[in-house]
Amino acid sequence: MIEFQAVTKRYDDGTVAVDNLDLTIADGGITVLVGPSGCGKTTSLRMINRMVEATSGTILLDGQDVHAQRPATLRRGIGYVIQNAGLFPHRTVLDNVATVPMLLGAKKAAARERATELLATVGLPAELAKRYPAQLSGGQQQRVGVARALAADPPVLLMDEPFSAVDPVVRDDLQDELLRLQSELGKTIVFVTHDIDEAIKIGDKVAVMRVGGRLAQYDTPAALLANPVDDFVAAFVGRDRGYRALGFLSAHGVEVAPLATVALGSPVEAARAKLDSGWAAVVDEAGKPLGWVSAAGLSTMEGSVQAADLVSGGSLYVADTGGRTGSLRAALDAALSSPAALGVAVDSAGAVVGSVSAEAVLAALADARKAGEVPS
Ligand SMILES: Nc1ncnc2c1ncn2[C@@H]1O[C@H](COP(=O)(O)OP(=O)(O)O)[C@@H](O)[C@H]1O
Ligand SMILES: [Mg+2]
Repeated sequence: MIEFQAVTKRYDDGTVAVDNLDLTIADGGITVLVGPSGCGKTTSLRMINRMVEATSGTILLDGQDVHAQRPATLRRGIGYVIQNAGLFPHRTVLDNVATVPMLLGAKKAAARERATELLATVGLPAELAKRYPAQLSGGQQQRVGVARALAADPPVLLMDEPFSAVDPVVRDDLQDELLRLQSELGKTIVFVTHDIDEAIKIGDKVAVMRVGGRLAQYDTPAALLANPVDDFVAAFVGRDRGYRALGFLSAHGVEVAPLATVALGSPVEAARAKLDSGWAAVVDEAGKPLGWVSAAGLSTMEGSVQAADLVSGGSLYVADTGGRTGSLRAALDAALSSPAALGVAVDSAGAVVGSVSAEAVLAALADARKAGEVPS
């Protein structure tokens, strides 16, 4: 557990970067500090590992005042990941990571073995290990940065805007990867970002800060979206917060209706016989969706249904089939992004099980409201 108790940081020029911060960060979760530029996020983070010294107040790590510990000892238990990864440019990827176990006393061979394992853990192909950082993409460099931070197996990981410099698609992958890693490793992660969407996606708890280094609200993402404490937080979490809040409601109650399917390569005649109006999902041998055909489209086609004939589909919704279930947001997005106005519901193996409509999602939302599952 990390506790900020009345922590203030005033820099030498008089700037108050953090003002009387009280914050308790639980073990084993991802706590996100989010807020506009200059609100004191980096300063707060760096006071934990004493790269910045607090002016007043106390920071406790597992009940011990960080100020009473030698910085080198303290930092051995705290990994640190920054934007652009901060890698050594003249060392290979493998050696960038192996440096850490070697500093901790491991022999070179053992350190490299450990580094190889870590690169696999963060999802980097082994053949990249011999390259230099400049020969990797931004997203790959960030993964190396995470591997290096994990090398000493620290219980605490501080991450300062680690994904802000990579493009949105790669950022999304890195976020998913971090969530997967965290579910395996169970570190205590303090993650700084200025991006509220990122905060809401990856945070177990989110601390919204305002300029002047004041804590505006500290809550779960769902509570933040449902009940912003004031106009600043409401504006910061955004206009479409009602829609985004659907991401926290499981779609287990959404009706999955039957959906006509056509196997790729099947005769157009047979497909027409199945479909007098509307749309059918075209599937592969495993039943996975490839796209759509409409009755109108089939009427102009000849021979068999080919990949080139398909209208591309929208997002997929993983229906409740005993395993994980998508959220109401995923179900609604599937319905809204589909050319057929029907979202494709799939099972956990990715095979089509039926369809969901926007109307079905809204009906499920109304039921959830009645059952008191939606904070109001
Ligand atoms: N070394 C420093 N000296 C003086 N002021 C600083 C220093 N570092 C940061 N600041 C100021 O402290 C405030 C908070 O900065 P910072 O913690 O970097 O915010 P954030 O990470 O949220 O953008 C800003 O006004 C910034 O200009
Ligand atoms: Mg910063």
